[in-house]
Amino acid sequence: ALSVRRAALLPPPGAPGDPAGQELPVESRPFASYGSVLLVSLPRPLRAGQLLTLEVDYEVGEGPGVCWLAPEQTAGKQKPYMYTQGQAVLNRSFFPGFDTPSVKCTYSATVKVPEGFTAVMSATSWEKQKDNTFVFKMSQPIPSYLIALAVGDIVSADVGPRSRVWAEPCLIEAAKKEYDGVIEEFLTVGEKLFGPYVWGRYDILFMPPSFPFGGMENPCLTFVTPCLLAGDRSLVDVIIHEISHSWFGNLVTNATWGEFWLNEGFTMYAQRRISTEVYGSAYTCLEAATGRALLRQHMDNTGEDHPLNKLRVVIEPGVNPDDTYNETPYEKGYCFVSYLAHLVGDQSKFDAFLQAYVNQFKFQSITADDALGFFLEYFPELKEKGVDSIPGFEFDRWLNTPGWPPYLPDLSPGEQLMKPAEELAELWAADSLNMEAIEAVDIMAWRTYQLVYFLDRVLQKSPLPEGNVERLSKMYPKISKAQNAELRLRWCQIVLRNNLEAEYSKVKDFLHSQGKQKYTLPLYRAMWGGSEAARALAMETFSATAPQLHVNVQNYVKKILGLAGA
Ligand code: BES
Ligand code: ZN
Repeated sequence: ALSVRRAALLPPPGAPGDPAGQELPVESRPFASYGSVLLVSLPRPLRAGQLLTLEVDYEVGEGPGVCWLAPEQTAGKQKPYMYTQGQAVLNRSFFPGFDTPSVKCTYSATVKVPEGFTAVMSATSWEKQKDNTFVFKMSQPIPSYLIALAVGDIVSADVGPRSRVWAEPCLIEAAKKEYDGVIEEFLTVGEKLFGPYVWGRYDILFMPPSFPFGGMENPCLTFVTPCLLAGDRSLVDVIIHEISHSWFGNLVTNATWGEFWLNEGFTMYAQRRISTEVYGSAYTCLEAATGRALLRQHMDNTGEDHPLNKLRVVIEPGVNPDDTYNETPYEKGYCFVSYLAHLVGDQSKFDAFLQAYVNQFKFQSITADDALGFFLEYFPELKEKGVDSIPGFEFDRWLNTPGWPPYLPDLSPGEQLMKPAEELAELWAADSLNMEAIEAVDIMAWRTYQLVYFLDRVLQKSPLPEGNVERLSKMYPKISKAQNAELRLRWCQIVLRNNLEAEYSKVKDFLHSQGKQKYTLPLYRAMWGGSEAARALAMETFSATAPQLHVNVQNYVKKILGLAGA
């Protein structure tokens, strides 16, 4: 994706010599399907620790890390848009560099855009100069995957003392309404729990509908799917998650993608700590229960013993780390961190440990051994007791054995919200429906995650007896006609599992409306595993929507549909 025109060794700052530098021979060598080696030969060997400045002139056009969208692929449909997505290993098609999370550096960038466009980056400071030129600077060292750029017809609105939302003009009102006044509280609670927020601003960019993730924690400027604009703040956990990466992932970073759980597992834990402080344990446990259900679904699909169901994944040379993405680092990782907290036994002591951990490893990249070694040093009495080798719960087993987590945190504070949902699902799964009991339950007052939990239960029990899903659909338009993406996903899954052809158009509409990977892949898997009609729907939908999907997502769908080239 890159074409390198020239590489040169520059004279050290202040030293004499040609400012254009000494041109060096460059060569490209094959590396993997997801990138190649740029080999630059130096005129003489370097001493360890010696600094040098290497200048590389290059051009970048099409590449998986740089997404170019036509006007029709934006919310406003008027102007084109471009954005980059670096994680895990895509930024090597954006700029040449050490594209590994084990290396951190600062960066600066000067971006010139056409009239009528605005550029934003994951940077601590920015300034607009004349000629539509934007100058950015990230003054803290970060791994390459966190460098991000977006250019489009975007505007901003303040939502807090250090936060604003960015979006296309047609979405900015909704974006401001959804997040006005709430971000600061999450940041403050995060700082209280995990220590100073070092990134200056925390802004949010609402992406075009094809953005493949719920959120991406680009420092200073989280990128999020527009699906979060639910109108009722119900999907705010995604923002809390990305804010949590400000400490776990962006400050303390996994040194290799094989230990991605250090980013995501700690972040899930931090997210739920913040959520508990702000929304209480009942709601947070309910959200955690839907996370556990996703892990259950994932392990059922792959088999518990699948090698990706370990926290420490062996990524063989040539294997693209993105292809190892699944729920395990998130939810099994969350269970492991919860287990560590359980060993400590006192929440405030564990919170203090997390803060010390961030302080110890900030701006560094670490392995699980570093993290767990520090845990045992921090709690010498636990080390003494040998908590790392309690039979069945060995740290080594957590890391290196696939399968269901040996310890599950207690989610019973969520019972009051889960129980009614479970019971209602039970009623709907009966052969003859007890309508009186069903009608006695008023779901209008339920929170989104309570409905999600209910729908996951219904899905688990599906296919339901003949006719039940049709009745459910009629009875609860709040669900079957929902605009909320998490509800739409579950409803589509239920439609497919129950082969409800009358509502196939909802699956199609949902897949046309957005391109988030975690929504798209489960639906294609369900269609492909379903009836002839479902398979036809998959093919028809994919051929219509493929061009607007992120290339990674396109390739994963192709794999599911058995299409050549994947
Ligand atoms: N960093 C991830 C997104 C990601 C992971 C991008 C791997 C590329 C490769 C982000 O923080 C994330 O986990 N997003 C979740 C949000 C959720 C867990 C609340 C998502 O997009 O669904
Ligand atoms: Zn994350």
